[in-house]
Amino acid sequence: QILIFDFGSQYTQLIARRVRELNVYCEILPYNNEILNNAESLTNVKGIILSGSPCSVLDTGAPTFPLAKFQGKVPLLGVCYGAQLMAHKAGGKVQPSATREYGRANLHFVQSNATLFKNIPSNSQVWMSHGDSIIDIPEGFEILASTASVKVGGYKIANQDTYGIQFHPEVTHTTEGKQLLQNFVVDICGCEQTWTPDSFIETTVAELKAQIGNDKVVLGLSGGVDSSVAAVLLHQAIGKNLYAIFVDNGLLRKDEFEEVLESYKGMGLNVTGVDAKQDFYDVLTGLKDPEQKRKAIGGKFIDVFQAEANKIQGVKWLGQGTIYPDIIESVSVKGPSATIKSHHNVGGLPEKMDLKVVEPLNTLFKDEVRRVGKSLEIDDKILGRHPFPGPGLAIRILSDITPEKVDILQQVDAIFINGLKTSGLYDDVWQAGAMLLPVQSVGVMGDERTYENVVALRAVHSLDGMTADWVHLPYEFLAETSNKIINKVKGVNRVVYDISSKPPATIEWE
Ligand code: XMP
Repeated sequence: QILIFDFGSQYTQLIARRVRELNVYCEILPYNNEILNNAESLTNVKGIILSGSPCSVLDTGAPTFPLAKFQGKVPLLGVCYGAQLMAHKAGGKVQPSATREYGRANLHFVQSNATLFKNIPSNSQVWMSHGDSIIDIPEGFEILASTASVKVGGYKIANQDTYGIQFHPEVTHTTEGKQLLQNFVVDICGCEQTWTPDSFIETTVAELKAQIGNDKVVLGLSGGVDSSVAAVLLHQAIGKNLYAIFVDNGLLRKDEFEEVLESYKGMGLNVTGVDAKQDFYDVLTGLKDPEQKRKAIGGKFIDVFQAEANKIQGVKWLGQGTIYPDIIESVSVKGPSATIKSHHNVGGLPEKMDLKVVEPLNTLFKDEVRRVGKSLEIDDKILGRHPFPGPGLAIRILSDITPEKVDILQQVDAIFINGLKTSGLYDDVWQAGAMLLPVQSVGVMGDERTYENVVALRAVHSLDGMTADWVHLPYEFLAETSNKIINKVKGVNRVVYDISSKPPATIEWE
């Protein structure tokens, strides 16, 4: 495998995804991870990539790395900060650039036959994003490539497989970035490109069998991609010893509980559906604050789940659909970032239940989970689902929750989402939904004045929910949807469309 050491760059996860796309397994670790003190645990490592960073190597206390342990023994690739760090430590000169270089540049080769640049045409476009530059390289370093404004665009240490590049091969604006990473991980590190969804399934199922044996596992299903794929993997490993629980918290989409429960049963899963709608409405009564609503829902879920799990005699494990981005230790070299919204819906579950935790997907990115799900022949309806927040419609009904409001929003949401599906727009949108606003407005229906609710529709494009753009849905579609909603849903007389991006707005309204 390849290890990527993270110095806090916003692009580190992208490096991992690009390497995985080459069917080579890799992991991200913080630059100061304790594994570095334990050389034996690194024997399977075929290559190391050092990421970029918001820091400067010139800062006092800048993050550093025990290079001497690896240089000349394992192939190394420094990207941006990683490249500067290696040059700086070897006595090269790194200096702040007059202006921060951010954007496209073109690469010229100084050496024509470097393995790192194999099959990459001269003049190809690369993406730069750096405040410092390497001005002079140390002795024993060879410049491989430059750009118009950066002399040391790429270097190699003579007689070693140690490379540094100033640009970012992981972003798509570096047109040959994938080829460069392939040159590094395949040609230089000698990795085989055998890590595929099928090989993942085969090894994971075998590992789960060995790990769990004849024990029983309980797992909460949400209808989403992650918990569904985790359940099917566990089911393949341990069959009926997997006890899946699907809770109706009364905050799901219209008819979702029944439909999803049916498809789980169709997949052969041993699943129990629990109708706890009223319990959730009870704890939500009168709560208006979004964070309080989230806490109440998270707490109630734990109670309901625990009560159901207690009915399973001798259960030893808790299965979870945790995926890789949830567990990558984020390096906060710039200090901890503020919590905007707490997303840890069921954070306290493992601690409270005194069960061992098994997380079969905790090495996978979201798109990889989908690919594994496809190989497992899970229904496209489940795999292609838009993300849906754990607290469900509760954070789309602004202010307090009542069953009546849930009913209104479910009807509105169903019209919108079904419309997206029948118009062929659903798969082009990353996430969509409707919000019920705590606002009434005047309208006219027939000869009568109405004073009813306003709903907002929201549809966004995004990669991972961290940033998002509003989708320019066709006006005809919006007109038709608005008409249908106002005509069919009693209690709504006005529809608006949210045209805010994230940041500065967020995807959900609460
Ligand atoms: P925001 O609103 O923070 O949403 O831009 C980003 C993504 O996270 C989802 N989201 C949540 N998911 N529990 C969840 O499981 C939550 O409390 C929660 N709040 C927001 C949101 O739907 C979007 O996909």
